[in-house]
Amino acid sequence: MQVCYKIDELLSCVEKLKEEKKTIGLLPTMGALHQGHLSLAKRGKRENDVLICSVFVNPIQFNNKEDLEKYPRDLDGDLALLEEVECDIVFAPSAEEVYAEEPEFTYSFGSLESVLEGPQRPGHFNGVATIVHKLFNWSKADRAYFGEKDFQQVAIVKDLVRQFNIPIEIVECPIFRDEDGLATSSRNRRLSPEARAIAPKIHKILMKSASLMKTLSVSQVKGYVESEFKMRKEFTLEYFEIVDATTLQPVKIKGDNKTVGCIAVWLDGVRLIDIQKY
Ligand code: PAJ
Repeated sequence: MQVCYKIDELLSCVEKLKEEKKTIGLLPTMGALHQGHLSLAKRGKRENDVLICSVFVNPIQFNNKEDLEKYPRDLDGDLALLEEVECDIVFAPSAEEVYAEEPEFTYSFGSLESVLEGPQRPGHFNGVATIVHKLFNWSKADRAYFGEKDFQQVAIVKDLVRQFNIPIEIVECPIFRDEDGLATSSRNRRLSPEARAIAPKIHKILMKSASLMKTLSVSQVKGYVESEFKMRKEFTLEYFEIVDATTLQPVKIKGDNKTVGCIAVWLDGVRLIDIQKY
């Protein structure tokens, strides 16, 4: 496994791979890797000749300074895990080099970013698009792997590819969960043991909402989820929305289009997100 700390090092690796006509899979991450990331890495490794994994805590996608400072960093641990899944190249650049020049361009995703995470985290998706676009350009990957846990992020990245005609395939991967159903996340390690023990309720309530969707109306299901969290004082619900899986716009009445329940909830000072497909 080769580790590139500089953009030029990555560019020369990629040039060589292109000459050898190798297919390249890219897994963009912010490190603090867990089994969720590794499930994407294994798939990327299986479907391409070479897997590049980027580890970069992207400062411009954090709208909260404290969140950026608290974000876990453990490059040695990440490298050990990536070695285990036989990742070929790790790209771990510095923020100084990536943002040597202040970004001049502002991305716009219209109604895709005016919902869910968008209003809660101003500038977040512009920050994500900025780094993802750079990573796509540097890696010249054939495929890039993204998790459905960040459902809106996948939609934004697909729109980025469409807007800029980037020749890359976006591969959407299912959520990896711990045995008790909690979606694995770098933030889970900030939960106290007591909070960790009740966190799986999020997935349980969402699963129940899926069975209720068969008989109840959209607003009744929304009401059910909201009341379940109101009842439990440990949780503070930030939002729960039932949205169209493609446009991400809130759905009022059940139709033929696929829908998804998206949730952001606070527990023990940690913001957790999850989704449920209906
Ligand atoms: P990060 O939070 O590190 O996540 C990297 C990728 O792993 C994302 O596509 C995310 O959806 C996926 N992922 C995280 N937890 C998962 C789980 N439990 N199951 C399946 N996939 C999971 O998302 C980012 O970083 C950044 O925004 C990034 C795209 C790297 C841009 O900076």
